[in-house]
Amino acid sequence: MYRLLYDTVLVHTDPEAAHHAAIEAIAAAGRTEPTRRALKASVGALPGRVPNPRLLVFPRAFPGVLGLCAGMDKNAEAVLGMDALGFGFVEVGTVTAEPQAGNPRPRLWRHPDMRALRNRMGFNNDGAATVGQRLRELRRSPAGRAVVVGVNLGKTRTTALEDAEADYRSSTHEVARWADYLVVNVSSPNTPGLRELQQVEALRPIARAVREEARRVSGRDVPVLVKIAPDLADDELTAIAAMVVEEGLAGVVAVNTTIAHDLGPGGLSGPPLRDRALEVVRLLRRDLGARPVIIASGGITDAATGREFLDAGADLLQAYTAFVYEGPLWPGRVNRALARA
Ligand SMILES: Cc1cc2nc3c(=O)[nH]c(=O)nc-3n(C[C@H](O)[C@H](O)[C@H](O)COP(=O)(O)O)c2cc1C
Repeated sequence: MYRLLYDTVLVHTDPEAAHHAAIEAIAAAGRTEPTRRALKASVGALPGRVPNPRLLVFPRAFPGVLGLCAGMDKNAEAVLGMDALGFGFVEVGTVTAEPQAGNPRPRLWRHPDMRALRNRMGFNNDGAATVGQRLRELRRSPAGRAVVVGVNLGKTRTTALEDAEADYRSSTHEVARWADYLVVNVSSPNTPGLRELQQVEALRPIARAVREEARRVSGRDVPVLVKIAPDLADDELTAIAAMVVEEGLAGVVAVNTTIAHDLGPGGLSGPPLRDRALEVVRLLRRDLGARPVIIASGGITDAATGREFLDAGADLLQAYTAFVYEGPLWPGRVNRALARA
């Protein structure tokens, strides 16, 4: 039904306007206990905990293996609604230290023939202080405390690369108390220079600063992961894996959008990413060894593709693009199918 609606009607709407309408509707549906209950009843409940000892590094149990990728609920406005739709966890952000408008529009495009999206949003977000307040509010209610929430952190566009560490530290200060995990995002293609921070000499001090600041403000060891691009060379992946192990970080989110395409500006997401994403996950599991967690994203469209990522060494999955194409019943359906497999 949603697919028919998407292919005949939604595909002709402005993608960013459709995005805002969807977030508003999901946020509204998540706002009250009766609407959440109704939504959960129509979508179907998740089967329970993900039985994976590696996930004990997180403070809360994951009710489903598939979560929502960063970038959709950038400002933490729709967390309860996303939870009610059957996502096992929600990664909000990317949040930057300062609020910013992002790149000029248009900045989001559909490629329906490939069931892909392309974006150059540029971290439009309300800023870490506002998002921190929203998360604090969320954690006041039992429903809000129950959801596994990660916060994805990026660099403010106007902050020079050499000042990136202070920028990430400042965002961490605002959000860490409310986060089940933090992600150091150094892989979005739409902030000039950001991906240079994937060099381990640049990434290591940022990861250390985030971890240290998170511990200072929250009084606990908040799991810190790094999110990487699929366009890194294999030896660069190996170097990042070594750094993650040396620093005792919680793990890696792999992968962000790719710039290896000729469709126009921005990063491409969805099925065209999948083969490289799988390769990256395999290589990372080999190099990370047993302990660190891998959260996989990149072209997961159903339980079968999700299973391929788990078999490749991922512990958790995330999706963005398939949720847009498949609609509101999709996350719960995939989570239930993966729990049965
Ligand atoms: C419109 C759009 C915005 C995104 N924004 C962010 C972001 O702010 N931060 C981030 O780490 N990833 C962002 N991503 C990347 C996704 O989190 C994800 O890593 C990528 O899309 C691959 O997953 P998918 O194929 O399921 O979409 C964005 C993706 C899309 C399509």
